[in-house]
Amino acid sequence: MKIEIKTAESAGFCFGVSRAAETAFGMAERGEKAVTFGELIHNPSVVNDLADRGIRAVDSLDGLSGDETVIIRSHGVPKSVYGLLDEKGLRYVDCTCPFVERIHKIAAEKSREGCDIIIMGDKDHPEVVGISGFCENSPYIFKTFDEFSLFLKNNYKKLKKTLAIMAQTTYNISMWEKCTQLVRRMQECGELAGEVCVFNTICSATANRQAEAAMLAKSADLMIVIGGRRSSNTLKLFNICSGLCSRCLLIESADEIDPCEMRKLIPLDTGAIFTVGITAGASTPAYIIKEVQRLMSEIVKNLDEDINFEEALEASFKKIYTGNRVKGYIVAVNNSEAVVDVGTKHTGYAPLSELTDDPGLKPSDIVKVGDSVDFIVTKVNDQDGVVYLSKKKLDARAGFEAILKAKEDGTILDGVVTNVVKGGVLVLSNGAKVFIPASQATARRDEPLEGLLKKNVKFKIIDVNEQREKAVGSIRAVLNAEKDAAKAKFWENVKVGDVFKGEVKSITNYGAFVDLGGIDGMVHISELSWNRIKHPSEVVKVGDVLEVFVKDLDQEANRISLGYKKDSDNPWEKFKSEYNVDDVVKAKVVSITPFGAFAQIIPGIDGLIHISQIADKRVTNVKDVLEIGQEVEAKITEIDIDKKRISMSMRALLDGSEEASEE
Ligand code: F3S
Repeated sequence: MKIEIKTAESAGFCFGVSRAAETAFGMAERGEKAVTFGELIHNPSVVNDLADRGIRAVDSLDGLSGDETVIIRSHGVPKSVYGLLDEKGLRYVDCTCPFVERIHKIAAEKSREGCDIIIMGDKDHPEVVGISGFCENSPYIFKTFDEFSLFLKNNYKKLKKTLAIMAQTTYNISMWEKCTQLVRRMQECGELAGEVCVFNTICSATANRQAEAAMLAKSADLMIVIGGRRSSNTLKLFNICSGLCSRCLLIESADEIDPCEMRKLIPLDTGAIFTVGITAGASTPAYIIKEVQRLMSEIVKNLDEDINFEEALEASFKKIYTGNRVKGYIVAVNNSEAVVDVGTKHTGYAPLSELTDDPGLKPSDIVKVGDSVDFIVTKVNDQDGVVYLSKKKLDARAGFEAILKAKEDGTILDGVVTNVVKGGVLVLSNGAKVFIPASQATARRDEPLEGLLKKNVKFKIIDVNEQREKAVGSIRAVLNAEKDAAKAKFWENVKVGDVFKGEVKSITNYGAFVDLGGIDGMVHISELSWNRIKHPSEVVKVGDVLEVFVKDLDQEANRISLGYKKDSDNPWEKFKSEYNVDDVVKAKVVSITPFGAFAQIIPGIDGLIHISQIADKRVTNVKDVLEIGQEVEAKITEIDIDKKRISMSMRALLDGSEEASEE
């Protein structure tokens, strides 16, 4: 609400009062001894000020010394006072207002002419007392229209003389007009026997002041009339204003304004402009008007601030609705929630469940006291002055925008797998949740989804429902892309003989697959060991890290053949260096066939003991003589490194061994 203060231009000292005040203050300044006959003006503040300067007010001329000048105030005095002053030999300065002097002359002249004098005014007012004092006979004095009307109606037949009607200079204009209209009407109706002379002696300054005050009061919401409570023109102003404005105050000075009371008079809840009107009686000095203006401005300024505050509060109440985005300051954090100052009377609460979806976090992990944080309002309770807030929802909203963009430009997003749900996993990314179907969650379908829980993953958005703010992602798409990139890089650089360290990813009957960094190569079962093995699992298991080397490459078929066993471990090399024909060795029977038995000399090297070389007599069934695991002593009879064949003989070590070995 806007508050404006309007001061009437005609407020304050009139010409006559101003002239008297200047005279008196001038004499005080010059140090002249003087008194005022009666209070100079009906304003205690001015009267006291003058007294402080040595010019006091006196009610009587008795006791005044000859060196004191008597100041006759603007109201004027009865004619007799001038005689008394002369009689007492007192000097005087006559400050009677010229407009009042004019009335004196009219009253004196008309009464001399034998007219009945009627004065509309206050009989006790010094001005009226002064006017009366110029009449030859006692005038009729009426304060109100009713008194005047009653007098005329009751006495019209007796009023045979000419009537001279005049008014106190500060008399109420509208009442004066009513009076003159009544006279005219009675004249027209022949109800007045004699002639009537009407003298409008109301001072134009007063008329203007009253007219202006009336105008102002009509449009004002609060009127302040400043002036002495014994000032006739001030009281008239107050009467006029209070009749036109429901809130009207009469004060003598700014001291009487109680800012608290004033605030009560100015309602804060109206949307219209609130106008404070100020006017002042003719005896009110300018400095008092200025003081009142200044104080009222201060009050209005403070009120404006209050209003702004109230309006801001009100506005803030109105602004907070469910779904609004608000900025708040964290004022407290406990284990279950954050307390937020959202800049209104409401206290904001952001429960942990609305701060994050991450079950591993506490409120203090997310916000700290003093942080400025944006929230979405989830619920408003004006009655309790509480609003419930969600950071999670706001994050999700921002996150979803990032998701939309990522879908558009194919950006890879980061997120944490927060839940394993039916058919897939949920990933929290930028505060938004993305569903990743099981088929898109891992590189291979057989991988368990639980292994992803709480892990950071990279994924691509593959589908979005903008209206429902739902998104579907794919981790596999990223993994495949990474794999493709790794493959391309691998094929670009790889050559036969390159050595890699890789993890065994899977095992089949014919070999083990080893991850070479995004691309798998295979170690054939025959390449896993120098020994004869039936299954790769006899040598490696999934997860083992092997040092392998590239044996062969076929980019077209996307096939990488790897070797694992090393030449330095080749048992034939060891055998060659340590064993010769005719050496007698201890060997263990590892297999039995119809034509003989194989016995292991060292790991990886087996020699054949032919059925004819087992004993020095005929053997028809090897198993009748030997069994698997049996340790035998035999002579190496032949070595063929190229064909990887070793022949041995047990018979050669028996009697007649020479023939046996030859055989
Ligand atoms: Fe004179 Fe009019 Fe003032 S009569 S004292 S100028 S109000």
